[in-house]
Amino acid sequence: MLDTLDAQPPDALLALIKMYAADERADKIDLGVGVYRTNEGATPVFRAIKQAEQRLIDEQDSKSYLGPEGDTGFVEVLRPYIFGKDCQLTDRIGGMQTPGGTGAVRLAVALAAKAGVTRIHLGIPSWPNHAQILDDVGVETVPFRHATPEGTADLDAVLGAIRTAGPKDAVLLHGCCHNPTGIDYTDAEWGEIAKAFAETGVLPILDIAYQGLGHGMEEDVAGVRIVLDAVPEALVAYSCDKNFGLYRDRVGAFYMMAKEPAQLAAIVSNANALARANWSMPPDHGGAAVRVALSDAGMTQVWLDELDEMRARMRRVRDRLAAADNEVPGLGLAALAQQNGLFAMLPLSKEQITSLREDHAIYMAGSGRINVAGLHAGNTDKFIAALADVTKG
Ligand code: LMR
Repeated sequence: MLDTLDAQPPDALLALIKMYAADERADKIDLGVGVYRTNEGATPVFRAIKQAEQRLIDEQDSKSYLGPEGDTGFVEVLRPYIFGKDCQLTDRIGGMQTPGGTGAVRLAVALAAKAGVTRIHLGIPSWPNHAQILDDVGVETVPFRHATPEGTADLDAVLGAIRTAGPKDAVLLHGCCHNPTGIDYTDAEWGEIAKAFAETGVLPILDIAYQGLGHGMEEDVAGVRIVLDAVPEALVAYSCDKNFGLYRDRVGAFYMMAKEPAQLAAIVSNANALARANWSMPPDHGGAAVRVALSDAGMTQVWLDELDEMRARMRRVRDRLAAADNEVPGLGLAALAQQNGLFAMLPLSKEQITSLREDHAIYMAGSGRINVAGLHAGNTDKFIAALADVTKG
């Protein structure tokens, strides 16, 4: 039986982590998987999370089971950050904890499928795992173009996808810090997107994986809130992996917005049943640490300060790359200053990406995506020189 299975290639992005680790060159640069790095190239545990973990060790009195919804305190304490302190939709929105943002996306797609969705429109390029999850759940991916060659979001394409969607279609959008392009919709564009959703009744699935790493905690969810205020129902996947630095602890949340408050319990019960069949319940530790941190004003401020530092550092890297536009023409580096979050796409060929890795010890995704957080004062000049080298005529 099992011998009928064909070998699968390893996940390309995760395979890059191992390739980078095996490279012994001292000046190697990792621009692959999306983790934040400091100016020293480290990915430390957040100060606020360290404090929260210490309190958990001191005060946690049991590790007995929770339910498939996980730590409900964690789910509640995140709400105002995502939906706003004065959110008027609270009685229509229910949530649960998930294993990372991936678990939340998985649950969103599976719940949509259970409700009858057979196709999901997805802006391409997207995070490669989006299409894999859709495929694994058995939902068809319908691609539309996310960005124009000029480095702006393709508003016509997303509006076209929503307006031509069928009755069994949903549309999946990145809430902020688009992965892999860094190209987000403006608030005015979100307004048009919200109008299209409202007029068609198409189900939005909104994936927020980088809140706080673009322009700020409030700014980064402004578009999502514009959509939620306009539409009858929606699904929201959320990740704490990056904005709390909890990557391997797998911390995410999934929120469902019902048309009517009375419909919410039935919707949430379906998500609970799907979670039970998939992973039973999410790992507790990271979500509990977030709950502790966000329940304490002092720790919350430490966390917000850390996010400010991260965002400012990535802006400096983006500005430095944009200023090198003349040194490496043809890559559109100037546009990076207008883009958000960890990622940017460079129009490099497969050969150029291979040469960067083999000749310059610079690791990036095969799509041309770079993680700008992998760059800092000590390696950005080398990266720019390497780009000039592999692109020279
Ligand atoms: C990434 O895109 O690099 C991250 O979201 C990590 C992942 O799980 O792919």
